[in-house]
Amino acid sequence: MAGRSLAVVLGAGKGTRMRSERPKVMFEVGGLSMIGHVLAAIEGAGADAVALVVAPGATWPEAVRGRASVHVQDEQRGTAHAVLAARPAFAGHDKVVVLFGDNPLIRPATVARMLARLDAADVAVLAFAAERPDGYGRLILGADGTVEAIREERDASAEERAITLVNSGVMAIGRRALPLLDAIGAENAKGEHYLTDIVAHARAAGLRVVRETAPAAEVMGVNDRAQLAAAEAEFQRRARTVALETATLLAPETVFFSHDTVVGTDVLIEQNVVFGPGVRIEDGATVRAFCHLEGAVVGRGAVVGPFARLRRGAVIGANARVGNFVELKAATLGAGAKVNHLSYVGDATVGAGANIGAGTITCNYDGVDKHRTVIGEGAFIGSNSALVAPVTVGAHAFVGSGSVITDDVPDDALALGRARQVVKERRSPVARAVPANKEGGT
Ligand code: UD1
Ligand code: MG
Repeated sequence: MAGRSLAVVLGAGKGTRMRSERPKVMFEVGGLSMIGHVLAAIEGAGADAVALVVAPGATWPEAVRGRASVHVQDEQRGTAHAVLAARPAFAGHDKVVVLFGDNPLIRPATVARMLARLDAADVAVLAFAAERPDGYGRLILGADGTVEAIREERDASAEERAITLVNSGVMAIGRRALPLLDAIGAENAKGEHYLTDIVAHARAAGLRVVRETAPAAEVMGVNDRAQLAAAEAEFQRRARTVALETATLLAPETVFFSHDTVVGTDVLIEQNVVFGPGVRIEDGATVRAFCHLEGAVVGRGAVVGPFARLRRGAVIGANARVGNFVELKAATLGAGAKVNHLSYVGDATVGAGANIGAGTITCNYDGVDKHRTVIGEGAFIGSNSALVAPVTVGAHAFVGSGSVITDDVPDDALALGRARQVVKERRSPVARAVPANKEGGT
């Protein structure tokens, strides 16, 4: 029988090795906090409830609210002590899986597997083969290959330190083993209550301890910024693999994704592209080299870049074009519209098929407030125009190049907002001397 499951996520540690004011679990991987990744894995595994253990005074992300009960561990006295801080959440659950908030790459299937192991065991340990076991708890196996204990590095003998099979930190604890948490002492080098000691206690009580394994890359812990960078690299490797299922990446190792990047089919992504959070690239679109996108949608068949910047709220319509050195923010570009060169389009709506000439700027900010610019479908904005918002340019209207547009332009109208050109013959300060002057000279 399955039984109700609770996931306890530990995130109260000081994270001293990060050398930061920020709680460790709030550091981001792929644009999402590590704790956010762990919560997503737990939800994907279908756990019935989640309890998060935090340090006093810790602020947890908005994203956590409503997804987990929050428990404060008053003093950081070790991982077993931390699990017990969540004891009020144990009621009604007969399976508890403990995860660490500093383990961002854990997969939902692994969490599910750990819970499933409790159907025929009392404690399940998730181990991995470490290339360099430094810092991890070593698994002490008996002659029969079963786990007898986990030894933390500081307490391990030289012989035990040579063991490369180590504890990932993920541990599943069944109903019969839960009371053992109270029996865990702190007789070790660090003077902490180690969750890992539950293994030896369970064995002594005649309970069944099993082990699962996972790839090292999935369960690496993040304790310092070098490991954070390693986790980010692994996240990117995974994200590229997923993107390559439907998209062509000319140089995958130069494209950087976020946790929520959505890439459609037949998408082409050229070299050196960065996707911040909240980007969707629809089918058949192309993102050319050196683009930076966040909070943006690139519609079907649209082409963006090279060297384009799409910021929050940029929505590029089907088959539209955004060219080099163009920045869009909170702007909707209608189907087939073009902004091909050197423009800033912010807080704007651009109609289908409109053409925004090179160097056009929407002046959306007056120093106090932001205002919108509306450009109708099929409109033509001449190069180097400044559209001073709030302003509307009607459908199929034409703005002469170099205009400063401060008043609305009706549909189908021609607007010229620039000084008339004056030409003065022979008055150039660098004019060539005329032959007549030459003769009279010297
Ligand atoms: C821990 C494990 C070790 C394992 C390694 C995997 C223990 C004793 N050791 O060591 O066997 O190989 O993780 O990465 O379990 N935390 C609290 N309260 C505390 C202490 C820690 O909430 O009082 C939290 C931390 O925020 C962190 C997690 O528990 O998310 C693990 O703590 P950490 O200090 O990183 O343990 P490690 O030394 O990495
Ligand atoms: Mg750790």
